[in-house]
Amino acid sequence: MKKTKNAASKPGESVRVLLTRSRIQRRIAALAREIHRDFRGEPVHLIGVLKGAVFFLADLIRCLPGEVSLDFIAVSSYGKETQSSGQVMLTKDLDSSIEGRNVLLVEDILDTGQTMQYLLRILDQRRPKHLRVAVLLDKPERRQVPVTADYVGFRIPNEFVVGYGLDYAERYRNLHDVSVLSLGGKGKSAD
Ligand code: IMP
Ligand code: MG
Repeated sequence: MKKTKNAASKPGESVRVLLTRSRIQRRIAALAREIHRDFRGEPVHLIGVLKGAVFFLADLIRCLPGEVSLDFIAVSSYGKETQSSGQVMLTKDLDSSIEGRNVLLVEDILDTGQTMQYLLRILDQRRPKHLRVAVLLDKPERRQVPVTADYVGFRIPNEFVVGYGLDYAERYRNLHDVSVLSLGGKGKSAD
């Protein structure tokens, strides 16, 4: 597909659409039906991982009928801008207890799995009734630790993507589509 410059692009950067906004929305509606069915109409507590998952969570929650609540958690990982180092740190905790609740952890992308492994460990200690995971994107080739998501929007190849919440140096989150980011204009990928 065509590479385009975007208003958020710095010199040398270009983006190429991978998943269009309409495809994303259709997939989220299907995931919501699956989630609603699996939780059998019981209340579901969604936990969004700041900041990238905000967009996915906002669209997903509006497709879920019934009693749904939400909270947010934030983590940071040290490392280069396009690669996490594996050292994860909690930077914002939840506002409310998850003990005995049906929890759905909502994340933008499952990459090495380090972030998800850390989050699952700390949330599981708080004894939720169920703890399930929804990710918009999954890059299985990149996995370093054995974690999987219960609900996956799209499995994508090992390329660095931006848009629909995903950033590169805090830019590009506002794009409607998910796009592959290239740096340097010589076909060099960001990751
Ligand atoms: P993990 O701990 O390596 O699985 O990394 C997960 C986090 O890295 C995600 O929550 C994203 O913030 C970030 N990340 C991983 N891959 C990408 C990507 O392709 N684009 C933007 N952010 C990414
Ligand atoms: Mg993230």
